[in-house]
Amino acid sequence: MPEDVEALVQFDDVSTQFGDLWALRDVSFGLRKSETRIIFGAAGSGKTTLLKAAIGLIQPDSGKICLFGEEITNRSEHALFALRAKAGMLFQESALFDSLTVRENVEYPLRNQQSETPLTEEEMEGRVREALRFVELEHTLDKLPSELSGGMRRRVGIARAIVTEPPLVLYDSPTAGLDPITANTIMALIAKERDVRQTASLIVTHRFQDGELMANFRYDAGTEELVPVPESGGDSTERALTKFFVMKEGEIVFSGSREQLDQATDPYVRRFAKH
Ligand SMILES: Nc1ncnc2c1ncn2[C@@H]1O[C@H](COP(=O)(O)OP(=O)(O)OP(=O)(O)O)[C@@H](O)[C@H]1O
Ligand SMILES: [Mg+2]
Repeated sequence: MPEDVEALVQFDDVSTQFGDLWALRDVSFGLRKSETRIIFGAAGSGKTTLLKAAIGLIQPDSGKICLFGEEITNRSEHALFALRAKAGMLFQESALFDSLTVRENVEYPLRNQQSETPLTEEEMEGRVREALRFVELEHTLDKLPSELSGGMRRRVGIARAIVTEPPLVLYDSPTAGLDPITANTIMALIAKERDVRQTASLIVTHRFQDGELMANFRYDAGTEELVPVPESGGDSTERALTKFFVMKEGEIVFSGSREQLDQATDPYVRRFAKH
């Protein structure tokens, strides 16, 4: 199918069990340029497993996963490395290297890129500064993660995830444990990244508002602010490009638009809808 060719990441009937627990169960979906999937689900429902499987950090028991059009299931770690380096990932709890400075943390993916024409030290410095400027943390270059607040560490994690300008970024619980204002700042950065670079995003979250923001706002380059997208008609692409998954015991038990989520009747799915 031609639409599969364009998918940056594609799952076909992917399943994984740990013992007798399903971490992924018959998961199928495709994600294309500029598209966002908000992934909801109870603790242990498979959200992190899904993100890790998407970049080959976990090999499923069955099914097929393609990343940037190439099958990654049952590939050697070596072959996976280059492909994985083309995707950005914000790990749950940020997972910064504690003993490395902010600069070294953000530089890390650039040094890991396998390229015919490696970046010079100067170019790397430029890219690191640009990524940190994007999250408004350029002044923290030489600090250690322990010297930053939780929200700042999350922003450094985002800078590290986007520094290679990846076409696909996976965000694992970017707003977890943050106060609402900081959480909104983080989501605004994620929306800006999507709109400035047409990035495809998979976003795991527990907050309904995070999905609302991705669906209802877009970054306006003129004013450098998020602006609401029209309710209907006109330029409502953000809304159409943002879809929601609800996971339960490894399975995607709901997939659809925000409106469809609001109308869901299943009590488990309703837990993640607007009340
Ligand atoms: N490496 C592993 N070994 C054994 N079991 C695992 C492993 N990784 C995940 N699991 C199990 O797989 C299931 C899904 O875990 P996962 O981390 O994907 O959940 P999650 O939806 O991200 O949860 P949370 O919201 O708490 O982050 C859980 O039952 C978990 O215990
Ligand atoms: Mg998780």
